[in-house]
Parts: sequence; C-alpha cells; structure tokens
Amino acid sequence: MRRRLASGQHMPAYCGQAEAKFRQYSFHPVCEMFPWMSEPEFLALAEDIKTNGLIEAITRYKDQIVDGKHRLTACLIAGVKPRFAEWDGQGSLISWIASKNLPRRHLTPSQRAAIAVDLLPELEKDAKERQREGGRVAKNGATIPVAGKASQFAAKVAGTNYRYVEAVKAIQKQAPELIDEIRVGNLTVRDAGTLARLPEARRNAVTRVVKQAPDRNLDEIIGKVVNGRSGARPITSRNGATNGKPFNFRKPFETWEKSDEYYTPAYALDPLLPYLLKGATIWEGAWGRGHLAGHLKQAGFRVAGSPKMDFLQEQPRRWDILVTNPPYSQPRKDEFIARAYSLGKPFALLLPIDALSGEYRHQFYRERGLELLVPNRRIDFIVDGEQTDAANFATAWFCWRLLPERLICVDLAKR
Ligand SMILES: C[S@@+](CC[C@H](N)C(=O)[O-])C[C@H]1O[C@@H](n2cnc3c(N)ncnc32)[C@H](O)[C@@H]1O
Repeated sequence: MRRRLASGQHMPAYCGQAEAKFRQYSFHPVCEMFPWMSEPEFLALAEDIKTNGLIEAITRYKDQIVDGKHRLTACLIAGVKPRFAEWDGQGSLISWIASKNLPRRHLTPSQRAAIAVDLLPELEKDAKERQREGGRVAKNGATIPVAGKASQFAAKVAGTNYRYVEAVKAIQKQAPELIDEIRVGNLTVRDAGTLARLPEARRNAVTRVVKQAPDRNLDEIIGKVVNGRSGARPITSRNGATNGKPFNFRKPFETWEKSDEYYTPAYALDPLLPYLLKGATIWEGAWGRGHLAGHLKQAGFRVAGSPKMDFLQEQPRRWDILVTNPPYSQPRKDEFIARAYSLGKPFALLLPIDALSGEYRHQFYRERGLELLVPNRRIDFIVDGEQTDAANFATAWFCWRLLPERLICVDLAKR
C-alpha cells in the first residue's frame, strides 16, 4: 500500500526500503508537488549514482530540501552518502524549483496547468514576502506577480497556457476530485471540463472507468457508462435533464467559434505541394467541410481523417504527414500546435502570422524548431460557403521536419 506524502501525492513503490529514511528529511511543499519519475527513469538514475557517485548536490534552503528528491532517494537506496548545497536565495524560490523540475519531466500542458494551480498559493506567499523585502524582479527573468495576474504568472512558471490554469481553477470548484486525474495525466483539462459539467453521480461513474482505462476515448466511456450503449454521444443536458433526446456533450466542431470556420481555397495549398513527399498519406486533422482534404486528393495524395475525428484525441491508423488548416480560436489553436509537435511526424499547419508570437507557442518553436513557408499575399478564405475577397489577416504554413530551409518566401498565385 503506497503512502501519501504531505503534499497528498503517493510515494512510488520503487522508493521501497528508502521510504522511512526519506521521511526523516524535510521538504519544501513545492518540491513535493512535482510528479515522481517513472520507475525506469528512476532505476537508471539510481544505477548512475551507484556507479559514478552523486554528481549534482541536493539543494536545501532553510533546512528544507528544495530540489533533488529523486537524487536523495537514489542515494538512500544505493547506500551513497547524500551531499547538500544551499540555495543562493536569489530571486523567486518557487520559479527556481519549477525551472529545475519542469524541463526534466514529460508533462502535458494539462498536467502543467494542474501544477500551476498547486503553485498559486505558494507563489502568492512568495510574492508577498519578496514585496515586503522590497525586491520586485526575480531571477530567471521572472517578475513577481501583481494582484490579479497570479494565474498568468503561475502559467508562465509552469510552462502552460493561462486559460488552462483558469479552467483548472473552475474545475477545482465544480469537481475537485478531477484535479488528481489531470495531475497524473488520466484526463486532459478539456475532458475534465466536460466531466465537471455532469451531475455528480454520473461523473463519479465515468471517472471510475477513466481511472481503469485512461487511454480510452472519453466520449465512448461517457456513452457506455451514462447511456448504457457504446460509442454513442451522450445523453444528458448540463443540468442532467435528458428530455428524451441525446445531448451533445462536446459541441460539434462546426459550432465552435466563428474564427474556426475559415475554409481553405485550393490555391493556398499550391506552394506547399512541392514539399509533400509523393505517395505519402496525408492526415487532414481539422477536416471541417473537407475543402483542404479535397484539394489534397485532387493533387494525388491519399488522405486520412474524417469530419468526426477529434484531432486532440484521435489519429488515423496510418499517416505520414499532417497537413491542416486548424481552428484559430484559443485555446484550440495552441492545443493543435502542441498536439502536432507531440505526434512526432512532419507537419504543416496553415496559421495566422501572429501565431509566431505567444509565450506558450514559443516553447515549442524554440525547443523543437519551426520552418515557415510564407506567401507574399493574403489568402481569401471561404467563409459561410462564400469565397471571400477581403482577407483581413496574413497566414503562413507553419512546418516541422518538412521544409529544406527555416524560411521560404513564395509567390501566391490566386486562381
Ligand atoms: C479553419 S477551419 C479549416 C477546415 C479545413 N481544415 C479546411 O482547411 O478547409 C478549422 C476546422 O477545425 C475544426 N475543429 C475544431 N476543433 C477540432 C478538433 N478538436 N478536431 C478536429 N477538428 C476540429 C473546426 O470545426 C473547423 O471546421
């Protein structure tokens, strides 16, 4: 039986015999907030420490460990004497702990948002303390938050979108039991938001199944648990009344924001065609009414995807390159970008040029890279079934592992 730490997290089974010794140390609550390593990662670290000794000292501040809980556990298991260094006391301790922990973990934007909400009270406490001390600018370029901006600051520290942080805060009020599921990666913020709107008894029934099968499609689970049938879209309205009619849990894609419904004319694809490998299967991930899918087929490609497929949750069985014009509303746009990178295959996303800026997106561009195919003219999108002739924003193909150069400027021939 795994025991809980002060933070409420379980100690992983691999801590084994080190647990009693581990508990003799005192930890900063923020240090305990970050999820534990997976067992294989931890065993590799323990093996390394056993062979090479402890290379990076464990950091303490005011008698509390602020970084190095895995290194400490590995030392205790490997019988290596732990070595400690004092934190230098410069800047925001919370930001520093986060900056040490986050890059080492493969956390989704949803998990990071849950961590950001955990961090909020500590960040606020830290900010007050530092303001009392008269310091306003923290190390790592992080500025101490002012009232009302705490979520934005927490999002920045945790490396996620602040709208997700706001969403997690709302879920925490409606259905606090879902936060743990987000934290461990069983639920995305979006799915937890869907579940939070269910009446409590139904929500609990669905959550029980999600815990047993985190990889299954949530719609399917809701359909099965709540409706008693598989795969179907669910049944109940926000307040739980069914009125005998099936209720659309997730809005169909078409009814999302107006800014999501800019369909692609054929000529917008022309500049990209020379860079798409002949014979490749292209996934059109935001199918919409099938405009871009049709142009790709016309150009001789096999096209995977469908109007019903949720890009954020599903993918076709076989595909080589993702080519799509995704929704432009937020947070959908960021979710599409994050998912495109996470899939690990070449992609081309047709996005407004201003998607070049934005802190959340920059993390991906900086860490993973980005190639741009920039047309010299704006695209007149198809809106409400009409080909417009007044494009009011510029777009480019945002690509990854697709173009031979980082920037290619092209002529756009409208036809
Ligand atoms: C800008 S439109 C482009 C449609 C199509 N790709 C094209 O180029 O004509 C974006 C489309 O993405 C759809 N969409 C929004 N969220 C989605 C999701 N999670 N999965 C798949 N499609 C989604 C919207 O309904 C909308 O039709």
